[in-house]
Amino acid sequence: MIIKLTDHHGISVEYVLESQMSEASFAWLKPMFSAKDTEVFPSFAKEEKKIFVGLGKKENLTAETLRRQSFQLGKILEKYHIKKATIDVPDFKAWTNNRELCAIKAVRYLVEGLLQSSYRFDPYLSDKKEDDETVISLKVRPGYEEKAAFSIEETTNIMSGVFFTRDLVNTPPIDLYPETLAEKAKETLEKSDVKVTIYGKKQIEELGMKAFLAVSQGSDKEPQLIVMEYLPNENEKPIALVGKGLTYDSGGYAIKTPKGMVDMKSDMGGAATVIGTISALARNKVKKNVIGIICACENMISGKAYKNGDIISSMKGLSIEVRNTDAEGRITLADALYYAATKTDCEMIIDLATLTGASIVAVGEFTTALISNDDHLVKYAQTAAEKSGEYVWELKANEQLRELVKGTISDLKNSTESPFGGCITAGIFLEHFIENKPWLHMDIAGSSFSGKPYSYLPKDATGVPVKTLYQMILDFTDKQNVFLEK
Ligand code: BES
Ligand code: ZN
Ligand code: ZN
Repeated sequence: MIIKLTDHHGISVEYVLESQMSEASFAWLKPMFSAKDTEVFPSFAKEEKKIFVGLGKKENLTAETLRRQSFQLGKILEKYHIKKATIDVPDFKAWTNNRELCAIKAVRYLVEGLLQSSYRFDPYLSDKKEDDETVISLKVRPGYEEKAAFSIEETTNIMSGVFFTRDLVNTPPIDLYPETLAEKAKETLEKSDVKVTIYGKKQIEELGMKAFLAVSQGSDKEPQLIVMEYLPNENEKPIALVGKGLTYDSGGYAIKTPKGMVDMKSDMGGAATVIGTISALARNKVKKNVIGIICACENMISGKAYKNGDIISSMKGLSIEVRNTDAEGRITLADALYYAATKTDCEMIIDLATLTGASIVAVGEFTTALISNDDHLVKYAQTAAEKSGEYVWELKANEQLRELVKGTISDLKNSTESPFGGCITAGIFLEHFIENKPWLHMDIAGSSFSGKPYSYLPKDATGVPVKTLYQMILDFTDKQNVFLEK
């Protein structure tokens, strides 16, 4: 699908509020369409073919209505193989008095919804659906063309970051393993001036990443440390984005059930989120320095694998008792976070990880759980999520929970004896390796992968929370000194 600001072409699309249906010109349409915010009506019987998109009640109109209804519109265009359409972008702000629906932002939501409707993951299908090459023309009010063109390009780049993340997560582990993940990151990001350095096993050993190596040692696939540098500004400390990169998590000797294991190709969702976000930032030339760090490996079973009961070391030197080989993400992140904190001179660390099933129990299937040592960062994440139409929820650590990750014969243990609070205790474990930097942990076990489609999000990889992370970093460019103000 291509979206442009071209002259009127093809079929006309009209967005309509419920209240507008009382106008005389809509009288003929009333038996078929009442402009509810779930309705899209293709009207092909009359001479002038049109598609009407319902927006519901004026007072309820939000960015999310525009995204969802534009997604439904895209599905209708696909269903009827309509290759050319023109959308007359209404003045949503004048209708609603809502600044969040100004012309430029409205273009963002329309483009987002439309592009969402075009996503498919079909490389493994013999019988692929033909791509219709739909071209949609947006007609904006005179004087807004330049801003709208910018908004279309910006949104298209963000969505290609989201789709890249989805493709990486959806690719099965027979094809996507640490080396191929690293190659794909390098191949794509280097096109947009991101420097990608890949370290193999020998260099990981030289760095002393013993925790990371312990998790990877049961696999025949070589672990990879992937470092991505996007540094558009001089003399600015970067934000470190750390992603959990388990290209497959069998559970190891604490082996998962077939049902628990079948979707574990998605255990590199954090890594894919980091790669997709950096790709979108670089394509849009966002002026903020960012370093992405991924410890990529597989968690497998073999004669070489680590065992339940092992005590291992880490890059920081803290010892970890492996009470459960399936709590492997936090072990790899221990070294990735310590690397970020000590080798990159970063201003803050944000990590993204499909870390715990407990996070899904705590906050629900489509919500990202947040744990942080810095209220500013949480506020930024909440604001960015709201702008992006994604969900986050903060969970707070406390002293009582902190006790649970302390070891008895080791410094830390990777799994607590308690069946409760598992998302928070995982976060507390990570906190030992951030060296007191401002830090935000995003547990995306639920939000990044789904067993069913929801709204414009597809089944399987969702690409969440690329939009939130992108928006957060964009918001940091407005107020670069927020951490100095404290
Ligand atoms: N990758 C899983 C977490 C996960 C579960 C992600 C479901 C997506 C969906 C992680 O490595 C894991 O297995 N965590 C364990 C931790 C437990 C053993 C302390 C879990 O959540 O059960
Ligand atoms: Zn696991
Ligand atoms: Zn895992």
